[in-house]
Amino acid sequence: MVMPMPMVMQSRGRAPPCTRTHQIGALAIAAVVFIFARSLDRPATCVYSPSRPAPALFDHAGTLRWPERGYGSALSLKIYVYDEHEIDGLSALLRGRDGRISAESCIKGQWGSQVKIHQLILKSKFRTLKKEEADLFFVPSYVKCVRMNGGLNDKEINQTYVKVLSQMPYFRLSGGRDHVFVFPSGAGAHLFRSWATFLNRSIILTPEGDRTDKRDTSAFNTWKDIIVPGNVDDGMTTFYGSSVVQPIPLSKRKYLANFLGRAQGKVGRLQLVELAQQYPNKLESPELKLTGPDKLGRTEYFNHLRNAKFCLAPRGESSWTLRFYEAFFVECVPVILSDQVELPFQNVIDYTQISIKWPSTRIGPQLLDYLQSIPDEVIHEMIAHGRLVRCLFVYASETEPCSAMVGIMWELQRKVRRFHQSAETFWLHNGSIVNRDLVEFHDWRTPVPLP
Ligand SMILES: *[C@@H]1O[C@H](CO)[C@@H](O)[C@H](O)[C@H]1NC(C)=O
Ligand SMILES: *[C@@H]1O[C@H](CO)[C@@H](O)[C@H](O)[C@H]1NC(C)=O
Ligand SMILES: *[C@@H]1O[C@H](CO)[C@@H](O)[C@H](O)[C@H]1NC(C)=O
Repeated sequence: MVMPMPMVMQSRGRAPPCTRTHQIGALAIAAVVFIFARSLDRPATCVYSPSRPAPALFDHAGTLRWPERGYGSALSLKIYVYDEHEIDGLSALLRGRDGRISAESCIKGQWGSQVKIHQLILKSKFRTLKKEEADLFFVPSYVKCVRMNGGLNDKEINQTYVKVLSQMPYFRLSGGRDHVFVFPSGAGAHLFRSWATFLNRSIILTPEGDRTDKRDTSAFNTWKDIIVPGNVDDGMTTFYGSSVVQPIPLSKRKYLANFLGRAQGKVGRLQLVELAQQYPNKLESPELKLTGPDKLGRTEYFNHLRNAKFCLAPRGESSWTLRFYEAFFVECVPVILSDQVELPFQNVIDYTQISIKWPSTRIGPQLLDYLQSIPDEVIHEMIAHGRLVRCLFVYASETEPCSAMVGIMWELQRKVRRFHQSAETFWLHNGSIVNRDLVEFHDWRTPVPLP
């Protein structure tokens, strides 16, 4: 499907158009023609006229230039970040209807990635202040945190998003294709009730690749969206001896495996709790108080987590769980018990080297027997491999040699398209982009009509 493209590019242009015969012929032999393009004696009428710069599709030898695996050889991105003062409603998505919810209170915990990604992109060298030159547009929102703190209800979230989008002509221009949103919880983009109407072409960053238990459709699309790591507590991700807890030697670990978390009435989790009661010396699954006054402190929690060779990560309300990421920092081997899970940076990380995925339908003594059969040397090796890649799960700047942000930037770069258009975008012979009323793009007035 890649090959016909140069022919399409060549057959347009200001020179007299190619005849239909030329075009059909061109398509039929597209794949072959591509290789012999330079030696073929094509009719002069098909030669691209140079009055607008020719697209940089070919290298000196006439070979089609296609970015290396779609990523390019170096990061080179221009991201525009919308400012809350520029768009009416954006501040409500960031700080609630009364503006009372602070970014500091939203940066902590499981969903802090929505704040961290925003703050890191603001500081990024890939940020641009010019919309005209942007490859991508970042729409900040801390809506998961805002909703949890009563700052907006579901109806308000939906209405506010629609209001915000209608003030973005560039969103309309591309149909949202170059606009980036972060949805950091299991609900994914479902937090915005009408996401499917408005955001189903946009790039969504989310740790959740699966529907939640309460929805029958997934808001994650494996082709356009990007799975990001969960936000592991900063105290755990600090390396070089300063982290809250240090891993303990394998031989000193008390348990074969553990599952630390609430059962939440989920089948797999209940089975683990039961299994732990049957095999208390192998599997630790205590009743942990993760909320309320007797809440387990984070150091205590990490101290538990590091005391097993394997950390079990069953699905909860949705398929991703923070436990999976935490395992790499206390250095236990994560065992995924969540069949639908989607993991971040799958193009660079081979998860078979650093984790185990076991069918959630086979939670029982067989799982423990299997884990017990794995020699310590193999466990050591998996942990050592995990140590190498875990920097990709840390929300640090893209100026670090390795961080979640570097990974996200590469994945974003892969999504950059040369051209964007929506069903309500049209273009003319001279490069003018117009709407259905033939109004030129720079004259589009907000609110712009949305689907
Ligand atoms: C979301 O808001 C838009 C605009 O106000 C409205 O048309 C739409 O019906 C709302 N969606 C839901 C699910 O309420
Ligand atoms: C995206 O939204 C449009 C408009 O509502 C709809 O027609 C289309 O089917 C949706 N596509 C997907 C993949 O959900
Ligand atoms: C392109 O052509 C249209 C229609 O002739 C015209 O209205 C528009 O001003 C032109 N745009 C430019 C950039 O010349």
